[in-house]
Amino acid sequence: MANFVWWKHGVVYQIYPRSFQDTDGDGVGDLKGIGERLAYLEWLGVDAIWISPIYPSPMADFGYDVSDYCNIDPLFGSLEEFDRLVAGAHARKIKVVLDFVPNHTSERHPWFLESRASRINPKRDWYIWRDGGPDGSPPNNWLSQFGGPAWTREARTGQYYLHSFLPEQPDLNWRNPAVRTAMYDVLRFWLDRGVDGFRVDVIWLLIKDAALRDNPPNPNYRPNEAGIHRFMQVYTADQPETHEVVAEMRFVLDQYDERVLIGEIYLPIERLVTYYGQDLRGAQLPFNFQLLHTAWTAAAVGKLVTDYEGALPPGGWPNWVLGNHDQPRIAARVGEAQARVAAMLLLTLRGTPTMYYGDELGIGRVAIPHEAVKDAWEKNEPGLGLGRDPSRTPFQWDATSNAGFSSGTPWLPVDPSFKSHNVKVLRADPASILSLYRDLLSIRRKHPALVSGTFRLQGTEGNALVFERKAESERIVVCLNFGDTEQPLPVEDFGRSVILASTHPDRASLDPKTVLRPNEGLTILTTALPS
Ligand code: GLC
Repeated sequence: MANFVWWKHGVVYQIYPRSFQDTDGDGVGDLKGIGERLAYLEWLGVDAIWISPIYPSPMADFGYDVSDYCNIDPLFGSLEEFDRLVAGAHARKIKVVLDFVPNHTSERHPWFLESRASRINPKRDWYIWRDGGPDGSPPNNWLSQFGGPAWTREARTGQYYLHSFLPEQPDLNWRNPAVRTAMYDVLRFWLDRGVDGFRVDVIWLLIKDAALRDNPPNPNYRPNEAGIHRFMQVYTADQPETHEVVAEMRFVLDQYDERVLIGEIYLPIERLVTYYGQDLRGAQLPFNFQLLHTAWTAAAVGKLVTDYEGALPPGGWPNWVLGNHDQPRIAARVGEAQARVAAMLLLTLRGTPTMYYGDELGIGRVAIPHEAVKDAWEKNEPGLGLGRDPSRTPFQWDATSNAGFSSGTPWLPVDPSFKSHNVKVLRADPASILSLYRDLLSIRRKHPALVSGTFRLQGTEGNALVFERKAESERIVVCLNFGDTEQPLPVEDFGRSVILASTHPDRASLDPKTVLRPNEGLTILTTALPS
């Protein structure tokens, strides 16, 4: 594996910095906190951390509204603290990936302050300004991802500006070369500081239809969905020119050694894979979110993996995600027992896995009382279950107050189950989900079949999904039971096999009559290669 670049063999761990570790008692996590917890991440066995935005921000969208791309918000620390964190991580062989938010700035970014000042300001065209209709209506029917129109009218200049998200997040005009130049300088600023790559926010939304055509209505829209789904995103997403921008970003990264470009892309598989770019000169890892939305059955997951593997361009490297700061947590979706099966799936499929902080503790859906809601999306479209606070609660380190996250009042409530679900308790229990994650991460490192081996779906039968990973003389079979009833294993003589990992640690051996117990997953090293 020596010649295998880190972002292919490694495992990425997403940190939501507000919620990882607070060191100054303000109830919000900080860089120093991450630095103090590097030993944990090293113990766990992850290879890279991706940190959600830490730049100066008014926090209308908790950092995804950036007011200065080349600095650190005092809430999180300083540039010096950032440098210390990168050095500390690198000393432990942990790479650092930053979140790059190019689609929009904060409304308080100096560029937007200039842009909004007058119609003739040199930065006017850095954002997307248009006249309204004759009756004063917005320029077209585009909607904000967070509810309501995507246009806000400025009384001062009488024009509307576009915001794909909150009005506090005006969209940059990526058709303007000056914007591109300025943003590529931002990439260089961080690359020069030693950052190992970027996760690029909403990369598939960067370019909008030049003629600003109306999006067509979505015939399948259901009223209990987010308002954005009322229209098909034909003219606001996945525009052909986006690929030009992705290739340019990649070009900037390629001037440095082994840096990675990860793209946030919510698209069907056949569109997603186009983001690898022509001749693989796009994103090295266009985020594959398919597991987040596929039915949790052996048949559906088996089909998904086959479809995805089959759709990858030659040489395109796969990747898998089970959760992030915008999605319900995996344990909330599939339950505690299946969360362990999910862990095994994530860490044994072919490709780079991205873990979400706290999933290794089995954190489920944390109820957020009405008065504690922070997410603007929940406030804009309440009651539809769109709010993202339940997946962003403080990390659970131990059983002391606030789970050892903060000596102050945490910005979001701590999961009430923290007394039993915390690092200290779970670390001491070899049967815990945390121990399972750590074991899986460690066997991944040791077995080339899991890192660089081929993938073959052996089959799905009832609730069982069975697949094989193979490299040279090593063959590993993964058997996962997606149900809560016993499931016979496909016929195979596992006679001389070794169990590398099991969701049920009391499983000691295999015999020809082995059945998978309810919710059981096994990773098996077979000694003989079947012909
Ligand atoms: C991405 C982020 C999300 C944010 C949005 C706007 O989807 O992951 O958290 O709200 O972009 O930046």
